[in-house]
Amino acid sequence: MNYRHAFHAGNFADCMKHALLIWLLRALFRKPAPVFVLDTHAGRGRYDLTAGPAERTGEWRAGIGRLLDDPPAALADYVGLVRAEGLYPGSPALIRALLREGDRLACCELHPEDCAALKIEFGRDAQVAVHRRDAWEALGALLPPRERRGLVLIDPPYEEQGEFAHLVAGLHAGWSRFRGGVFAAWYPIKHRAPVRAFHAALADSGIRDIVAAELWVREPLDPGRLNGCGLVVINPPYGFEPAAADILAALLDRLGERESGEGTAMIRLANE
Ligand SMILES: C[S@@+](CC[C@H](N)C(=O)[O-])C[C@H]1O[C@@H](n2cnc3c(N)ncnc32)[C@H](O)[C@@H]1O
Repeated sequence: MNYRHAFHAGNFADCMKHALLIWLLRALFRKPAPVFVLDTHAGRGRYDLTAGPAERTGEWRAGIGRLLDDPPAALADYVGLVRAEGLYPGSPALIRALLREGDRLACCELHPEDCAALKIEFGRDAQVAVHRRDAWEALGALLPPRERRGLVLIDPPYEEQGEFAHLVAGLHAGWSRFRGGVFAAWYPIKHRAPVRAFHAALADSGIRDIVAAELWVREPLDPGRLNGCGLVVINPPYGFEPAAADILAALLDRLGERESGEGTAMIRLANE
């Protein structure tokens, strides 16, 4: 396991994933019934952007660094939460900040150091369970939740060949066990061919009601570079598509590299 999220925390891909995640959670929390959130690849929870790996790469400067001052309306909720949290909040910290009494969060993280950091942060928190457990195995073991309402965030590191196929299989397995759940899965866009194949595999998977939200900050031509990213959402809550389009447009305006070929897209991969 070589991937360490600390090098990338707060970059444009985190901004996109976290801004959309917050919208999805707010939508689930509109109804009073308890919600279960499963964060399958949780990372360490919080990141100091002014020191260590994040400071060395400086990726956050082209991400959250461009949003903190005077955020556009579509990003105000996300940026407000980041500001309120102090250290840059990863997905577990953002989710925890929004949980209501009676909601639950389960975080899975395989890296020993990052998992230990999560256990320190959430060890005494009765609403949060931290597992040093394989994400793909957790999709079988922890679903369906007793609440019967919830969101599953799947955010793999894409270190290995075949991660897109792994993700399709994981989404299918999770959705088969928890058909009413909202699933959100992040993916990288380096160049188009693997993304097209991934979309086609999802469209053929039998899963219903899937949309993909995409942002690319420069044309996705260089397979060695993260040029953009997407979030596949199964069972998107009412209003997701127009709200996500506004969030993506605001992100592109601040984070796009002002080259031809940058852009956003909302793509429906399967109907309800
Ligand atoms: C992209 S990072 C997660 C970032 C986090 N979701 C966030 O938004 O703040 C992916 C994480 O998955 C962990 N990981 C990799 N393979 C895993 C697996 N099979 N099961 C659980 N965690 C895994 C890595 O150690 C890494 O911390």
